[in-house]
Amino acid sequence: MRISRTGRSLSAKLRTLACALALVAVPAAAQERFVTVQVDRPGAAVPDTLFGLFFEDINFGADGGLYPERVKNRSFEFPEPLMGWKQAAPGGAKGALQVYDRVGGSETPNSHYLRIRVDEPGKGFGLTNEGFRGVGVEGGKEYNFSVLARSAGTSPRSLRVEVVGADGRILGEARVSGFTPQWKRYAATLRATGTEAKARVNVLAEGAGALDVDLVSLFPKETWANRPNGLRPDLVKLLKEMNPGFLRFPGGCIVEGRTLENRYQWKTTVGAPEERRLIVNRWNTEFRHRPTPDYYQSFGLGYYEYFQLAEDIGAEPLPIMNCGMACQFNTAELAPLEDLEHFIQDALDLVEFANAPAGTKWGRVRAAMGHPKPFNLKLLGVGNEQWGPQYVERYKAFARVLKAKYPNVALVSSSGPSPDGKEFDYLWSQMRQLKADLVDEHYYKPPQWFRENVRRYDDYPRDGPRVFAGEYAAQSVGVARPENRNDWECALSEAAFVTGLERNADVVRMSSYAPLFGHVDAWQWTPNLIWFDNLRSYGTPNYYVQKLFSTNRGTRLLPVLLDGSPQNGRDGLYASASFDERAGEVILKLVNTEPARREVRVSLAGARGVGGGRSLTLSSSDLKAENSLDEPTHVSPVEATLDVSGSEFNYALAPNSLVVLRVKTMR
Ligand code: AHR
Repeated sequence: MRISRTGRSLSAKLRTLACALALVAVPAAAQERFVTVQVDRPGAAVPDTLFGLFFEDINFGADGGLYPERVKNRSFEFPEPLMGWKQAAPGGAKGALQVYDRVGGSETPNSHYLRIRVDEPGKGFGLTNEGFRGVGVEGGKEYNFSVLARSAGTSPRSLRVEVVGADGRILGEARVSGFTPQWKRYAATLRATGTEAKARVNVLAEGAGALDVDLVSLFPKETWANRPNGLRPDLVKLLKEMNPGFLRFPGGCIVEGRTLENRYQWKTTVGAPEERRLIVNRWNTEFRHRPTPDYYQSFGLGYYEYFQLAEDIGAEPLPIMNCGMACQFNTAELAPLEDLEHFIQDALDLVEFANAPAGTKWGRVRAAMGHPKPFNLKLLGVGNEQWGPQYVERYKAFARVLKAKYPNVALVSSSGPSPDGKEFDYLWSQMRQLKADLVDEHYYKPPQWFRENVRRYDDYPRDGPRVFAGEYAAQSVGVARPENRNDWECALSEAAFVTGLERNADVVRMSSYAPLFGHVDAWQWTPNLIWFDNLRSYGTPNYYVQKLFSTNRGTRLLPVLLDGSPQNGRDGLYASASFDERAGEVILKLVNTEPARREVRVSLAGARGVGGGRSLTLSSSDLKAENSLDEPTHVSPVEATLDVSGSEFNYALAPNSLVVLRVKTMR
């Protein structure tokens, strides 16, 4: 990415320090503040899509994360075909390992396989897989082992799979046998006898002979919705509990690829997993300070699974298409305008895959994968974080064709990587002229920026394209700096900012924190919303901010005055409100970025029949507080009953807090 992402200047350090001090040193506000929710002046409907999710396969978010395959490089398709594997020969076994490639014009995307030749069987000859920074197993749980195999001449008697702990203990084993000269899938179930996050998997041929193997898989039986090839349940649960309005996928920069050849192409990610063509993940080489040579995309988690995930968690799917541009921070390769048809056809075919009846070409592919009913795609992104006239030309070409054929699919366009500046202004002016549907804005900024920009959208024109605040996260040190923390100061500053998004939900129709996932041992970028290792996961304070806003969205905006003024965010007090027509509740969000408790006098103007409610408080006196695998809910919401019976009441805001008040009222 940009140079500023890999180097941190002294002035940046000083700026960050100044921000931190600013938040800590503000004197306690003594006087009472007045918060008026104009219940009798309801505004725009709150879009269901206001708070959603940004998923990208970064930080081992897919392979090694949401996609819980335990074997890395299971098909020997990495450019170093034995990366992640090592020879294993317990008990004095002898033999040889040889990778073969079914070349010779074969179209197969999965051309490599491995021959295991056993000369002296010992306790089995074969290889061991290191997994994704280890192999996670839980005692008592079952794992499905499967392999494509054929005998090559004399067949070994059997193939043993075993999970081995760091101390050498066997934590479970299973066997398959009966090999023939034809390729066939063999499967067995392994029950783990112990729990370990960093075990390894041995695959050992027993008895002399030679065996060809491919697609060696160890997959947890327990997946989300118990689907074969399914997703990791704890991570999906965290997502679902956010009640997200949309799921953007597959990124992010991986849409673009470092080169156009390595861009994300959805058609290579559907169909049987063994037919999906592996490519390098562009984050493999992105940061010199976080090299990840073993980062590839197997596409076990592909477009079908993304659509299915969106459906499972109740989110609108939002796929982002490559628009003929490779990442402009890398090679910036362009597809010539006259060759753009192929890229546009991919977008048209994707809409057919998602929405057309099962009798159509791409609808048939979807149906064959198990989903005859359409996915009902309504949103589509054209390019990720592109900029310049090259982007505008390509966007126009896409929009012309897509709008003619699918006028009801709203298109998301780019405003580049920065939330202001020449490029940003240029793209916005172009998108206004083109009457674009939604413009995607990105801001990776210091926490202070979020507190200071809470009024960013107050004066945005209401008659042009709508805003998608598509990627944002407060950076405690600097953009994508490895020292960045998911601390309470960042989360609280984002909470303050989100009140501004919510107040302007008539123009800001969608928003999402980014990135979503980070593997604690394999990340490239930080901060991230959710962290995990091979067995456990947790939501950061930032996650709980997003969750509180999203699960308390309401259906109609209500104006809020602070001390009689519509200006949000004076002296560290921020607010937004909505009415939940289904629950009959006023929902008031208050953010206090002062390190002192502060009294507010709340008035629900025009509310009738006020009767009780509840509060949800997210706070910490320590701005550096974080959650962790061992303390996953250290900073998390606390619920209490709210004893109010009239339309006016006092409320004491905790220092450094986000509070959601839900008050029953007839309005
Ligand atoms: O969220 C990480 C990266 O930040 C995304 O891939 C990209 O769109 C942005 O630069």
